[in-house]
Amino acid sequence: MSKRYTITAALPYTNGPIHIGHLAGVYVPADIYARYLRLTGNDVAFMCGSDEHGVPITIKAKKEGVTPQDIVDKYHAIIKKSFEDFGITFDNYSRTSAKIHHDTAQEFFKTLYNKGEFIEEVTEQLYDEEANQFLADRFVTGTCPKCGNEEAYGDQCENCGTSLNATDLIIPKSAITGNTPTLKQTKHWFLPLDKHEDFLKEWILKGHKKDWKPNVYGQVKSWIDDGLRPRAVTRDLDWGIPVPVEGADGKVLYVWFDAPIGYISATKEWAEREGKDWEPYWKDENTKLVHFIGKDNIVFHCIIFPSMLKAEGSYILPDNVPANEFLNLEGNKLSTSKNWAVWLPDYLEDFPGQQDVLRYALTANAPETKDNDFTWKDFQARNNNELVAIFGNFINRVVVLTRKYYEGVVPEPSKLRDIDEKTLAALRAYPEVISSSIERYRFREASQELMNLARLGNKYLADEEPWKVIKEDEARTKTIMYIALQIAGALAILSEPFLPFTSKKLKEILAMETPEMAGGYISDRFIKGVSWKNLKDRISLDNFIKPGHCIEEPQLLFTKIEDKDIQAQLDKLETSKKANEAANKVAEPQKEEITFDDFTKLDLRVGTIIEAEKMPKAKKLLVLKVDTGIDTRTIVSGIAESFTAEEVIGKRVTVLVNLAPRKLRGVESEGMILMTESPEGKLVFVNPDANQDVANGLQIS
Ligand code: MF3
Ligand code: ZN
Repeated sequence: MSKRYTITAALPYTNGPIHIGHLAGVYVPADIYARYLRLTGNDVAFMCGSDEHGVPITIKAKKEGVTPQDIVDKYHAIIKKSFEDFGITFDNYSRTSAKIHHDTAQEFFKTLYNKGEFIEEVTEQLYDEEANQFLADRFVTGTCPKCGNEEAYGDQCENCGTSLNATDLIIPKSAITGNTPTLKQTKHWFLPLDKHEDFLKEWILKGHKKDWKPNVYGQVKSWIDDGLRPRAVTRDLDWGIPVPVEGADGKVLYVWFDAPIGYISATKEWAEREGKDWEPYWKDENTKLVHFIGKDNIVFHCIIFPSMLKAEGSYILPDNVPANEFLNLEGNKLSTSKNWAVWLPDYLEDFPGQQDVLRYALTANAPETKDNDFTWKDFQARNNNELVAIFGNFINRVVVLTRKYYEGVVPEPSKLRDIDEKTLAALRAYPEVISSSIERYRFREASQELMNLARLGNKYLADEEPWKVIKEDEARTKTIMYIALQIAGALAILSEPFLPFTSKKLKEILAMETPEMAGGYISDRFIKGVSWKNLKDRISLDNFIKPGHCIEEPQLLFTKIEDKDIQAQLDKLETSKKANEAANKVAEPQKEEITFDDFTKLDLRVGTIIEAEKMPKAKKLLVLKVDTGIDTRTIVSGIAESFTAEEVIGKRVTVLVNLAPRKLRGVESEGMILMTESPEGKLVFVNPDANQDVANGLQIS
């Protein structure tokens, strides 16, 4: 039965491009789900957009000396384009700086305000005196009170996932100046989550949410068990959506208040464009609302946003929140700031036309139940050993042989043998097997079932060997090829959510109807009306890829990825690693710290060497006469291995003149010449700028 679905994918922060962690955790599974639901005849609104507020964006703007609007304009365009190129089929990709979003978010706030759903309170918040600014969220770091992570943020600890208030941090530090914040009074509006505790318990813990993924259910339960506290939904910032009530000058909505409302504004924007009504997608109890997110977003989507929706009163609540764990890259945590990532725009450039390879590698290795590691070796293996060697190889054999034996015309089968019946029976089971995995949000398992179907085809051909049978039994060969073509046709349909680019090519090769074709002229040659939903029945009725149907030329579906392409990616990562190590290297002082007073004790003067001679029987020593501007004195200097006596006469030098005199080989030395060493180990004079008229005796400070 056709159902209405509202599917949301976490709005990405607009301070950098999309990377494989975002893709594996959120956008690829969401897209598989949305595509699948459309293919099975449902009414789908798949919504996303740029999350353009929040502190990280203002920090980035400050760092680059541009406005936050410049930053979000730049990355919104990059992100939107890369999603399109990657085949993510959002029905709308909006942005939170859009007017429709500002209006929607303000209206939402006002509704809760008028219903008395907020607590208005003056509290002490962290304040940076030097930056003249309140510090919340990512503007402040400190130690997590729960797990002791020293780099927790003012809104969340990324180590243990706990959602925090800035004042919870132990030893807080301003991210702007590094200063220790002071406390200052300010008024804010709080959403009393504690007031919604009973509802949340009823809805999640006692309700049917036990079918939520264990990682999601477990996190939510532990937060509720810990007890919920009021949470500020406004901030003292100048970047964001102004708080639409009196007495709130200079205050904006908390980014986590406005961003999820972005799902609603994106739906409104889409509905307006399509001439639809947005409300059923958010207010009709029969609509299924599903949020795709990463695990760091769980509290916001399972506790805070539902509490907001509940408080508003007219909205439906999410049916499921299939959050994923994190993806690591080559054993290390993905990091935007450390450039430890595979960026989507880079991938699209380095692997043109190979979107499906990344989609497949990320799905087959998705961090669905635990954190997982992306490695380029695994990526290569998924392509070469599965997509090329199994899927591509099967299709290629079927198409090439059909064209070779029958000029592309699907042959008439004769009496089926046991193996044919068994193979067709197995084939008929796949639509439901894959559906069932997708509907339970097990995309990894679903992608493996798809590959198993290609394996079934490969094994069938390998066992039946039509290329041998053709020599003695033409009728049998026709049956084999007929069966193999049914599998190829099923792959074309069932691969679409996972490998949309490949599915399209395969439909072209098999002359099956494609959505683009559906809009225009479709010749009788095309196979029409076979969908995921009726695939099983069409196979049963022997009515799928019919005898007499003519297929097209083969096309290359996948190409082998060479070691050198993988090495190039590993080299890129190595470069990031080196750059990080260099950037993070803190120069440790080599000697004990001294005070300024210690330093001023040194009397350093500009001088000139006026006489020099070798100290007899001493390899290293020269005896110098130096004009210090205040006097002429004797200095014994250990530089004879680097300079001859003649060379140094006339050199301008820096002299420490108040060093206690001491005797060297019987000669009293009254000071010290400052020297340094070149990288090659040669001594060099620390001398006054030769181009400047610096008189002897000038004091150095
Ligand atoms: N921008 C957030 C992140 O990247 C996600 C926002 S999801 C929304 O973690 F619900 F707020 F939209
Ligand atoms: Zn923590």
